[in-house]
Amino acid sequence: MSIVLAFDIYGTLIDPHGVVTELQRHVGDRAAEFSRVWRDKQLEYTWRRGLMDRYQDFGVCTLQALDYADLLLQTHLDESARASLMQSYRTLPAYADVPAALESLRSAGHRLFAFSNGTAEMVGAVLEHARIRDFFEHIISVDELQTFKPSPEVYRRVIDIADTESGNCWLVSSNGFDVIGAVSAGMKAAWLKRFDGVIFDPWGIDPTLVVQSLDELAQKLS
Ligand code: 2OP
Repeated sequence: MSIVLAFDIYGTLIDPHGVVTELQRHVGDRAAEFSRVWRDKQLEYTWRRGLMDRYQDFGVCTLQALDYADLLLQTHLDESARASLMQSYRTLPAYADVPAALESLRSAGHRLFAFSNGTAEMVGAVLEHARIRDFFEHIISVDELQTFKPSPEVYRRVIDIADTESGNCWLVSSNGFDVIGAVSAGMKAAWLKRFDGVIFDPWGIDPTLVVQSLDELAQKLS
């Protein structure tokens, strides 16, 4: 039976810190710090909105997190800088190992899905720009359920859409909270440990598989 692989997008296939080059134009040498605050706050806003049942889509979370970072770091972005940074979120790059690994996994007969907090429109745009959209059978967005990862509902949605058994359905993510959410909801999950020194949350809910790169995942699942 072919395996279903649901790939997280931001942080796993697409580099959210690819925005640093554009940020340097606006905030100079604070770009890396700005990018970290922006990304951390973006995720925090999704968790808080999910818990409060106050859904606004990932684009809104991203814009409000951008404004938070601007206020915290006192960088005084003007309207045109905000617009161009939001636009650059749609053209973020894929990590270098992505196209070849997706090709290997597809050639091995696996079914590939994109699965993200981003809206289907946002995710479609970034995957098109990175020229990897065609690898995926479908883009599954939490927007359909108006909540965010790691709500168990969103992982069950993946299993439903793929129309397979939960034990045949894998999440692939570099985001530890996403991996724990998927395993907790009954999926298998590969944690992509992209960077040395990243710690997996010690909750006792472990990934099914840990890999350092997507090439390694392709080898292990072939
Ligand atoms: C995604 O869902 C969690 O940002 C991550 O794409």
